[in-house]
Amino acid sequence: MGPIGVFDSGFGGLSILREIRRVLPQYDYLFLGDNARAPYGTRSFQLVYEFTLEAVKHFFDQGCSLVILACNTASAKALRSIQQRDLPVIDPTRRVLGVIRPTVEAVGEISQSGHVGVFGTPGTIASGSYNIEIAKLHPQFKVSGHACPMWVPLVENCESEGEGADYFVKKDINALLAMDGDIDTVILGCTHYPLLLNKVKQFMPQGINVVSQGDIVARSLADYLQRHPEIEARCSKGGTCHYTTTDDAEKFSAMASVFVNEDVKAQKIKL
Ligand code: DGL
Repeated sequence: MGPIGVFDSGFGGLSILREIRRVLPQYDYLFLGDNARAPYGTRSFQLVYEFTLEAVKHFFDQGCSLVILACNTASAKALRSIQQRDLPVIDPTRRVLGVIRPTVEAVGEISQSGHVGVFGTPGTIASGSYNIEIAKLHPQFKVSGHACPMWVPLVENCESEGEGADYFVKKDINALLAMDGDIDTVILGCTHYPLLLNKVKQFMPQGINVVSQGDIVARSLADYLQRHPEIEARCSKGGTCHYTTTDDAEKFSAMASVFVNEDVKAQKIKL
């Protein structure tokens, strides 16, 4: 038995962890932010894969049987290889899940026009993962993706409420909507982006649904655990949450306390 591992390149995954803990408070959690090497969104496939695999191995060493990649970039660039190539060798009884599939499942129920927009990191958008996954489940949908390279740095540098954010959020919304005038649903396809939700809502034209992933991923995980009692039985239930980062623990703790709305005392680890 061990905690459920939750991974992100940085702080963004805390937006997913917060919702997971709200829906499933009974489990123990281990969060890891690879802040020392964030952002992942502008890095190559190979590097994101290597970093993510290192993190997954670390979670396994800590006793996690289930790891959630609370990062779209890692889900887009590393999840499939880890599931198909690495897990069978490392330990076929453990599981690694991502955030893209549950989001795509939920979007089918939200969009009326079938015209969906996706904001993501350059890596997520270039991977085409949302287009591929949406085409599998909703082949009639039209998907337009737009990369927002400035959004993660704004969040990581505590500028998500600042005036600088207004400029980039407005500019990127305009660019996405110019791709397809019938978009009625926009996915925030990066776990950092919910921290810009206020700005996104402020500048998004009325009537367009803005989908953030926390609640969707949390409900999908609850469903997964119900359908996989053999994995559920290996998740310890003490209601605790331990935070780790690859960068400065004090800085992480201060930021994370705001994100999750409780006192965080993070520990620095090496991957
Ligand atoms: N939060 C991550 C995502 O969902 C990655 C951000 C980054 O490191 O660029 O894509």
